[in-house]
Amino acid sequence: MTGDTEGGRGGDGGVAGDADGADGAEGADEVALDPWGSSAVGDYRELFSEFGIEEFEGILPRVPDPHYLMRRGVIFGHRDYRPVARAMDEGDPFAVLSGFMPTGDPHIGHKLVFDEIIWHQAQGGDAYALIADLEANSARGMSWDEIDEHARNYLLSLLALGFDPEEGTLYRQSENREVQDLAFELGAEANFSEFQSIYGFDGETDVSHMQSVVTQMADILYPQLEEPKPTVIPVGPDQDPHVRLARDLAARTRYFGVRTAYASFEATDDELASLREAYEAREAYAEDADQPRCEEAAEWLATEETAAEGAIEKLENAGMEPLRPRTRFVDRRATDDAFEALIEAVEGEKRVFEAHVDAFEVNLAEAEELAREVEVAHGGHGFLPPSSIYHRFMTGLTGGKMSSSIPASHISLLDDPEEGYEKVKSATTGGRETADLQRELGGRADECPVYELYAYLLAGDDDEFATEVYEECVGGERLCGDCKEQAARLMEEFLEEHQEKRAEVEGLLEEAEIELESSRR
Ligand code: TRP
Ligand code: SF4
Repeated sequence: MTGDTEGGRGGDGGVAGDADGADGAEGADEVALDPWGSSAVGDYRELFSEFGIEEFEGILPRVPDPHYLMRRGVIFGHRDYRPVARAMDEGDPFAVLSGFMPTGDPHIGHKLVFDEIIWHQAQGGDAYALIADLEANSARGMSWDEIDEHARNYLLSLLALGFDPEEGTLYRQSENREVQDLAFELGAEANFSEFQSIYGFDGETDVSHMQSVVTQMADILYPQLEEPKPTVIPVGPDQDPHVRLARDLAARTRYFGVRTAYASFEATDDELASLREAYEAREAYAEDADQPRCEEAAEWLATEETAAEGAIEKLENAGMEPLRPRTRFVDRRATDDAFEALIEAVEGEKRVFEAHVDAFEVNLAEAEELAREVEVAHGGHGFLPPSSIYHRFMTGLTGGKMSSSIPASHISLLDDPEEGYEKVKSATTGGRETADLQRELGGRADECPVYELYAYLLAGDDDEFATEVYEECVGGERLCGDCKEQAARLMEEFLEEHQEKRAEVEGLLEEAEIELESSRR
């Protein structure tokens, strides 16, 4: 399960949530990815090896017309993005959802997520953006007045950057009754020990904070409430524990489990591998290769060094039963009606047991689809496990971590354009001590917050420009003074333009179906 508690984190660059004001989550120090801790990642490679996040590069070729954040590796990782990429490619329904805790001004780190939502919307996805006001109130102690002010600012920037509120959905957690009902339902599948091991919660943690977790689980599955569909959650890697839990909870609500089996007994994954091996080798040992018997397979498997012990034993116990591949539907929590309907719906040869059905002419993919259809037709959600994509945290302009509590370390989308200009001009760089050294050795673009600004934002879709900056820097042709001047001007222009757009979309926001004032006080 999801309760990894590997210790140790540290290093640079957080942007999503900052440690300021976090309460609860005592003991979260042992949790390497902590949604309410300092969102810093020491080593991104660890996320692949320790947490099973996949490298985005591997799926990039399958993404139609990928966003520049994908092309440049800013979006570096994903969980199960394949179904989303496939749906995009084939014109099938899919969704994108992310949430924002209104704890301060929206800044250039949030812009990454805004852009990701907007891009998926433009690719044909149902887009959702939510204001995590319950979480801000419970986990960060924000007042409702502060929440309203910040929420408005997030939404204006989101719309100004191109989110279409008529096609997409905006909501705040506190006002979405469906989300709260779903949160309650999902809460029945999770318990405190699990929260302890995932989030480091303890006896001092507020119950409201825990409630904000199930609320986020409901947010993540909300796009599938009407019908199951691939859904991507773009977030920083600090949110991965939430994604994993949501994937687990989604699976726990399912009516049926679908898997491969070789005989009437159940097997673990290791055992299954041995059973498959034995089945494939049947010519070698079966008296009748069309009908290998379990006991014959047991005897053969006993001579194989790598065979799973359990498999041999189970095969022996099954005796003369034929060894034969099949797709098994296991009744996990289906109603009697749903189970009956599933049995009816299975085509071809089948065997019905008390709590499972074995189908001999249905492959795994067909079975998944059938199980989901029957579940949905009988009142279940049929949730697909939600997917996620992860972006890198930006380095602070002053070096170290980008933090909303250190204004000089980040650029707020509300900063005066001149202020933005100044912040870039005073940023630390990856430059050398002297111009001569820089010409000789080249700059360290990979460690330069100014280069990051180009790659993450200022170069926009223009890969050639981003590459040029990089090459000129590491080749020693670019010196930091001019480079920062150029970046500062671009930042100033961006902020000017963005703030004009914010003013233009005021009306759009008033018309949008989201409450701008909380009914709570
Ligand atoms: N917990 C997120 C944060 O700290 C906010 C959030 C709430 C969210 N619900 C979500 C993010 C659903 C992604 C999906 O910023
Ligand atoms: Fe950074 Fe530009 Fe200096 Fe290179 S030249 S180190 S990119 S500021």
